[in-house]
Amino acid sequence: MLEQTVQIVSNEPDPTDLYFRLVMSAPRIAPLVQPGQFVHLRIQSIKDALLRRPFSIFQVSGDTVSILYKNVGKGTDALSRMRPAQDLSLIGPLGHGFTVPPPGGESPLLVAGGYGMAALYLLAQRSPQKGIVFVGGRRRVDILCQDEFQSLGWEVRATTEDGSHGGKGLVTQPLLAELRSGTAGRKLFACGPTPMLRAVGRIAEEFNLPAELSMDEHMCCGVGVCLTCVIPVKTGADWEYQRTCTEGPVFDSTRIAWDANS
Ligand SMILES: Cc1cc2nc3c(=O)[nH]c(=O)nc-3n(C[C@H](O)[C@H](O)[C@H](O)COP(=O)(O)OP(=O)(O)OC[C@H]3O[C@@H](n4cnc5c(N)ncnc54)[C@H](O)[C@@H]3O)c2cc1C
Ligand code: FES
Repeated sequence: MLEQTVQIVSNEPDPTDLYFRLVMSAPRIAPLVQPGQFVHLRIQSIKDALLRRPFSIFQVSGDTVSILYKNVGKGTDALSRMRPAQDLSLIGPLGHGFTVPPPGGESPLLVAGGYGMAALYLLAQRSPQKGIVFVGGRRRVDILCQDEFQSLGWEVRATTEDGSHGGKGLVTQPLLAELRSGTAGRKLFACGPTPMLRAVGRIAEEFNLPAELSMDEHMCCGVGVCLTCVIPVKTGADWEYQRTCTEGPVFDSTRIAWDANS
């Protein structure tokens, strides 16, 4: 993990101005990145600039690191107005990422909701085994990198809640249909909203499949100090809080104690 002042190479919006792709020149961080890890960005122009914002590392190419972000609030809005050649303070790569499937290992099924596709792209790129990516979102604009996953040799099955792209419904519906046709030698990897991750965890349990889930909780320090980001994790018959920024964000689904606080 390193702190580096990096320079913006490009910061391009999609046609709706909702999602942006930010490419940064980060020569010391780029070679260290593992799929599913994240960076913590300081956005100087906002009042609470001391509070960094976490983003999954979307792509790595040579010396550059990219993120794919949704403009949802004051930090991401300020970020969306930054221009090439401006500087950003970056800490990364952070966290415990996905296990890249070994050659000849389980066939991967990726499940992504919204910007969760960003966290799964590097895994898709580095996996020697290509499989199926199930991508879901509310509307067509939320289906982000279908072409990029297809260019890597993955089959993409898209769903939108309003039916404006792909099948109509939730991303777990085509996943269930696929698993009913056979489960041997498969493994699930997922990133997206918590209800989606919980549903994927239940499906993994029902079909007795291994699954890794990226738990994106709200974070402050990003480096294991403040305990803002904890989730309940099983430890034998009991459970304890663990930090998603350091022990995660990726956890084996069988370890998450979903009902610990209820
Ligand atoms: C490990 C990790 C990886 C992430 N990767 C990405 C990514 O690849 N692309 C992306 O667009 N976003 C990602 N996020 C979410 C991103 O960090 C937040 O959207 C961002 O911090 C919001 O900052 P803001 O100042 O614009 O919003 P704020 O003004 O602080 O908040 C605006 C809204 O965003 C919500 N929000 C804030 N933080 C989060 C969060 N962690 N998860 C969900 N909602 C949040 C707030 O509840 C509020 O409703 C990730 C979060 C984590 C923890
Ligand atoms: S964000 Fe501070 S401990 Fe995880």
